[in-house]
Amino acid sequence: MTLRKQKKHRWGGFWTEEKLNAFSKYVGAYLTIMNKHRDKYRWQLIYFDGFAGSGSREEEHGSDTIDMFKEFGISVDDTTLYKGAAERVLSIEQQGFDYYYFIDKSEESSNALEKKLAPFREGGKKLEFRCDDANSQLAKLAEALKDKKYKALVLLDPFGMQGLNICIGWDWNRFVDTYTNWCRDK
Ligand SMILES: C[S@@+](CC[C@H](N)C(=O)[O-])C[C@H]1O[C@@H](n2cnc3c(N)ncnc32)[C@H](O)[C@@H]1O
Repeated sequence: MTLRKQKKHRWGGFWTEEKLNAFSKYVGAYLTIMNKHRDKYRWQLIYFDGFAGSGSREEEHGSDTIDMFKEFGISVDDTTLYKGAAERVLSIEQQGFDYYYFIDKSEESSNALEKKLAPFREGGKKLEFRCDDANSQLAKLAEALKDKKYKALVLLDPFGMQGLNICIGWDWNRFVDTYTNWCRDK
């Protein structure tokens, strides 16, 4: 594998776009189902993104990345059209979530995302930005989900396997344990 190909995978490339398109469709289908029942059961729907990012991939532009775009016939301007998961989920045209939580351990990314999503907040969406580790916020979510009225859709989209390992370590097991214990006890 060439160095350029390795960089393409680190950055994401076309599969990122496909993944985000598939994810948006999944969230749309989830909302269609939940919207049929939420009033009857008085559910409060939570969207939780544990690795929310900055909403942009412009910071990833390096000379190798730009070369890669040339290879595939894409100009650098195209990359500024990038819509991350957060923006896509907020743009879905049906009744959305009651609360949106965007977690990122990078203060810079968290602030950039908050700025980018400001129009949605002005439009009435309840957005919460937490500059924190995804694991500790997942533990808080697990606690909140003990209340049956809350239903959550969780996106965990870290960079590569290293971030994923952080997430599926003991903290993730604790999240599952908390939730399964609650199911057992009820
Ligand atoms: C792949 S990006 C997210 C891309 C985003 N889902 C999108 O659609 O644009 C991964 C983000 O996870 C953040 N991150 C990495 N480890 C983290 C952790 N343990 N807790 C919270 N955020 C983390 C990084 O700062 C980075 O912004």
